[in-house]
Order: sequence, then C-alpha cells, then structure tokens
Amino acid sequence: MSHDFSNKYPNKPVPVAQQDMAIDSPKRRHALKTLVQGAATVLTGVALTEQVTASAQAQAQAMGMMGGMMGGMPGQSKSASISSGLFTHPMPIPPQLKGEADSSGVRTYALNVMAGQHSELVPGLKTATWGYNGAILGPTIRVPQGKPVRFDISNGLDQSTTVHWHGAHVPGHADGGPHNLIAAGKQTSVSFSLNQPAATLWYHPHPDNRTGPQVYAGLAGLLLVDDGLDARLGMPHTYGVDDFPVVIQDRRITEKGQLDYMNSMMDIMGMKGDRFLVNGIEQPFVGVPGQWIRLRLLNGSNARIYNLCFADERPFHVVASDAGLLEQPAERTELVLAPAERAEIMVDLGDMQGKKLVLRSDSAKVIPGLNRMPMAMDGYDKGRFDLLELRVGAPTAKTGHLPKRMASIPTLKADAPIRKFTLQDMNMGKMRRMMMGGGLQSDNKSTGPGGMSMGIGGRHLFSINDQYMNPKVINERVKLGSTEIWHVANDGMMAHPFHVHGISFQVLSRDGAQPPAYERGWKDVVLVHSGQTVQLIARFDQPAGDDHPFMYHCHILEHEDNGMMGQFTVS
Ligand code: C2O
Ligand code: CU
Ligand code: CU
Repeated sequence: MSHDFSNKYPNKPVPVAQQDMAIDSPKRRHALKTLVQGAATVLTGVALTEQVTASAQAQAQAMGMMGGMMGGMPGQSKSASISSGLFTHPMPIPPQLKGEADSSGVRTYALNVMAGQHSELVPGLKTATWGYNGAILGPTIRVPQGKPVRFDISNGLDQSTTVHWHGAHVPGHADGGPHNLIAAGKQTSVSFSLNQPAATLWYHPHPDNRTGPQVYAGLAGLLLVDDGLDARLGMPHTYGVDDFPVVIQDRRITEKGQLDYMNSMMDIMGMKGDRFLVNGIEQPFVGVPGQWIRLRLLNGSNARIYNLCFADERPFHVVASDAGLLEQPAERTELVLAPAERAEIMVDLGDMQGKKLVLRSDSAKVIPGLNRMPMAMDGYDKGRFDLLELRVGAPTAKTGHLPKRMASIPTLKADAPIRKFTLQDMNMGKMRRMMMGGGLQSDNKSTGPGGMSMGIGGRHLFSINDQYMNPKVINERVKLGSTEIWHVANDGMMAHPFHVHGISFQVLSRDGAQPPAYERGWKDVVLVHSGQTVQLIARFDQPAGDDHPFMYHCHILEHEDNGMMGQFTVS
C-alpha cells in the first residue's frame, strides 16, 4: 500500500526556489536517496584515491564535493525556505508522575519501559514506537527538591536499556549511564534525592552504542525538580494551563509509517528527520490563555539544532537555562537550542486573545554559521519551519507574571588546574574506514520498533582528546568536592553540544568573551561551535567510582554512540 503524501499534506514545506518538488514529496525523498547513494559511491572512489595520493588538497576537494552534493540540493535556493505547519492535531500534554510516599516518607515512582502500540505521531500513519508507561515519550516526573525518591523501573523491551537522569545531581551508581544496564525483561530500583535548584531536567536511555536509536524510538521524558520558588515569584506554574512542556524532536518516517533510522550515509553525521514533532505529534496546536505563559522547551532531537522564534518575531524572555532559573529574565527574539539543551521561556500573549501564534525554527539565520561542514546540514538547517501553533483563548482567573529577579547564582572559584578537552569529528580517513567497514549496513540490526535499524554504534568516528569511548578506560579523575574549569575546544567542522554528567556548570566564556545573558545560569550542555573554545566551571560534589563513572560527551547521539564520549571518576 502506498501513501499519497502530497494529498494528505497540502501544506507541507515548499522551498521557495523549488515549488515543483516539495521537500516531503515521495519524489523528493527518492531523489534524496539517489543522491545519497551517488555521494557514497563518489566518496568511496575519492577515499581510495586519497589513500594513494594522501593529498590534503584532494581531501579538501572531496569534502567540498560532498558538501556541494549533500549540503545543497541541486536547484535549492540559498535563501530561506518557509515550511508551514499542519496544526491538525492537539499537542499532547504528558501526564504528571508525582510518586507515592510510603510509610517511611520515600516517594516511589513506577517507570515501565515498553514497546508501544503503534502511535500516530504523524497524522494518518501508525508507527511502532517505544515509551515509558505508554507508547511514546514518558510522563513528566515531578520530584520535590531534597526529598527522598525511589524509581522502580522495569524493562519490557527485548533488549537492555538504562534510564539516565540528565542534569540530576546523583552519584555515579544512580546516574543511569552505560554501566547501569537493565537487561531485557528485568527490574531495578534506584533511590536518590535531588539537592539542586528547581529545573527542567529530563530522562532518557544511555546504553553504550545504542543511545541514539533508543531515544529515536521514542524514549525520553521530562524530570522537573520543584522547590516552589516559581510560585513564590508569581511565575506561571500550573502544568498544562499556563506552564507547558514542549519536547521538540525530528523524525524521518518510511512510507509504511515506520521510524527510519540511519538509512542514508550522511545520517552518521547526526540523525535528522524531515518531520517535526512536539510532545510526540507532528506540528500540533495547543490552546493557551491570553496572558503570560511559560514554555519548558527541551530539544530532544538526536542531532538537530533549532533557532526558535515566534512567527511575528515578538520578544520573549528566557527565565531558565538547562539546570535552573536565571538571575533575571533575558529578553530575546530568537534562541538557539542544541540537542539536550533546555530553556524555559515566558511570553506575554495578553494582546493575542482569539488569535494564533506559531513557534518555529528560523534555522537559516544561524545554523549554517555554526558549522563548517556543509554535508552535515540539510535543507531545513538552511530554511525555516513551523513547530507548534498556539491558539490563544481567554485568560485564566489566576495570571502569572514575569519576575524582575529570580534565582541567585553563586560565583565559583576554581581550586584545581584547568582540564582540557578537544572535540574532533569526521575526517576523510574516518569516512573511508566507515565505508570500508561496510558503511551503515554491516552490523545494522533491525531490532528497533517496527524493524527500525539500531544504527552502527561503536565505530571510532568521533573523538575527544584523540580518545574513543571505551567502557574499560577511565579518561579523567576528579577530586570529590573540587571546583574545576574545563576548557573545551572544538577542533572539528561541526558544532558539538558538550554535556557532563553529575554536575551543573556555568559557562565562563566563549572564545574569551562573556557568554550571552541567557547562558549565564546553571547548565549541563553547552553548544561549542566549530573552531570555538568554551570554558566551564563546576563543583564536583557527587561521587562516582571506577565501577560507575560519570560520562562527558557530545549530545549529538550518533557522535556519542560512535566514540565521542569519555568517562571520569569523582573521588
Ligand atoms: Cu542526556 Cu549522557 O546524557
Ligand atoms: Cu546526562
Ligand atoms: Cu558531536
């Protein structure tokens, strides 16, 4: 059975200079596939030539050629394309999971990792997915600051997984990293308490080499730490009423409606899709009150970076970075959000009652400037596309407002030598090795939902300090209780979102300059642009031993799965 996408989606993206071939048409998809195959052939040829001549110039030319073929589709205009949204389905609001306190006062939460009944993430198509306590994504877990909690996790998948608490200050043994594998069909319990500022954290799988496909399959959810400060400050804080979870992800879907993972050669640069989901539904709409609202944005995508803005370019206010409220709101009209980054924003819709407002990504304005590798970008990175439509109704009885001052963020002082990290990505040699190793196919197991590929994780393609992830090697040892500056230099051609487990950090500088206002708060992911150097500072208060070390890694999941991760202990 074949689906006629062009009839179903009359409003799908149509690049300005390419009206005859919509980005989402089967024709275009086929053309893309052919191009990718062509590029792969060229690459093999070039790689072999390069082996003989070892000429740097040939390398540069080859990269350029690939970039030309992959980064810009023939006939594609350099100007921004506008793709308008579907907005036919309501945005799901994930249920909240608040846990139940037992007699000893420990709050218990049940989390079941499961294969889903085909959920309709793209209207009209049934897609097999994985989720927590449901078909896709997971409940919004709420943890009160400082209170003891326990998670009873059962793994109903037919493969092992872990549940990592991204951004949580927990010891290595509770962190859910690659060393905390839960075998297929098994249960485990993990206990901790979160002594950290209120924040929008998240949880997702973290098995070595398979994080990318497991997240892509649907496994991710929000983890909110509550301390009541937002309510005391009069900020919007009523879940689903004036305070909304917004999980942004992109997916590619086959014509049969199944998740399409790493099926073209360029996907190794980071898996990107051409359909944009919010809370697991493609381009939905949501009813919001005509007043100040708060959006908790999570870029839950494997690889895509967004430049978020409203269609009318109205200003909004960033009130929280990854791991907590800022000291004061930072006004913006656009905001770059890299994979795994969160931002809480507030926007005043008091003038919008009865109207609609679209949240979109104006990628063309920013993304090409972050990257020096054209083949790591697609038409969407060079275009503009819609994500979510806000349908503004009447205000509620209780309206929140924008505070002037919020958290107070301490100034940290390092008491240890600067630790240096260099990020390294693909080069021609690594590309050649991948092609010679059978490309994407050789260990491409179709054991994901609906026969989805589980990728090619475990290759040595991306590195940090010339080291590839090796679960048996501890790369760094940090002293418990020390405060360190980490110097992260991106020697690669792509922008890499650098993430550290077990801590929140502050960004001290970008290329020596003070970071922008919206980055002057607690973070756990920082996007390091190609050629850029970023300095972070953090206090390492959570212990992690050799058996359960913490990870630092690039949060483009295909990079993480293919070497770009290291391990550190804190003791
Ligand atoms: Cu979001 Cu190592 O993780
Ligand atoms: Cu993490
Ligand atoms: Cu990366």
